[in-house]
Amino acid sequence: MKTIFSGIQPSGTITLGNYIGALKQFVEMQNDYNCFFCIVDQHAVTVPQDPITLRKNIRSLAALYLAVGIDPEKATLFIQSEVPAHAQAGWMMQCVAYIGELERMTQFKDKSTGKEAVQASLLTYPPLMAADILLYNTDLVPVGEDQKQHMELTRDLAERFNKKYSDILTIPEISIPKVGARIMSLQEPTKKMSKSDPNQKANITPLDDPKQIVKKIKSAVTDSEGIVKFDKENKPGISNLLSIYSILGGKSISEIEEMYDGKGYGEFKSDLADVAVNFFKPIQDRYYELLESPELDRILDEGAAKANLVANKTLKKMENAMGLGRKTRK
Ligand code: AQP
Repeated sequence: MKTIFSGIQPSGTITLGNYIGALKQFVEMQNDYNCFFCIVDQHAVTVPQDPITLRKNIRSLAALYLAVGIDPEKATLFIQSEVPAHAQAGWMMQCVAYIGELERMTQFKDKSTGKEAVQASLLTYPPLMAADILLYNTDLVPVGEDQKQHMELTRDLAERFNKKYSDILTIPEISIPKVGARIMSLQEPTKKMSKSDPNQKANITPLDDPKQIVKKIKSAVTDSEGIVKFDKENKPGISNLLSIYSILGGKSISEIEEMYDGKGYGEFKSDLADVAVNFFKPIQDRYYELLESPELDRILDEGAAKANLVANKTLKKMENAMGLGRKTRK
């Protein structure tokens, strides 16, 4: 059976973008693959985080993974910092990476431009991401389009390591969803929807209450044409809402265009808000049940134990290949 690894940062409440670009794929794939799903808290601290909020966000993300349908009997769910091999292998991948290629990462440029003090970890995030993936002999990584460049770097680093030391790392493939690979901000539809966006109106989260969802969709930026038609270039706002409707409502974009032929944006937005509210209701019910339950801790403990077993095996091979430590060391 092929192996999947993917992670989400607990850097805020996940957005509809994270759900569509990542989590939804995870749920679909868990039946056919050996899956490792990770709460990448060490990535979250590459930008400043309040410790109390971070702890809350980690637990919340774990509950959300399960609430959307990740089954711990099928998939291993764990927290990155509870598997020390990630940081250790991350260091090794930093020793394989070049500063020039890290500085070229668009996410680094986006998050560092104009900032006075940029943490070094923001630059070295991609080698840690590579380590996350490579430790599990991963064949396939389901991510949104924004992670494509980091994935290409992961493949390059793995190939470089194999060539330089020993052919032990599996070169992973990337899996990007056909629809919804990049869900855009509701307020600036040419910019991706991001959980750390300070403008709360820009995001929908699976935990928003019905009133918030209605308000956010109604105030989503569109255009003055009044025609519900998918045209990413000229109508980015409406096209984004159409993608969201299509995924949450289970209808094709052309079907939805037909449904709203001759109707205005008001009716379209109001129906989309209903679709979103109904979609998230069962997820929210399950989420609040899980959040305080000891079951969540049991699942995370078991996940960390399983992940440590697999990751430590690869780490040992990597250390041996690089000549770190003593060969006989357990
Ligand atoms: N807007 C998006 N559309 C589709 N997929 C998306 N993803 C993120 N935003 C969108 C996918 O969600 C997964 C988890 O992402 P992450 O938490 O590791 O980091 P990110 O890509 O940086 O996501 P955010 O929401 O923008 O987080 P912050 O604001 O903390 O940087 C990935 O598979 C990603 O592709």
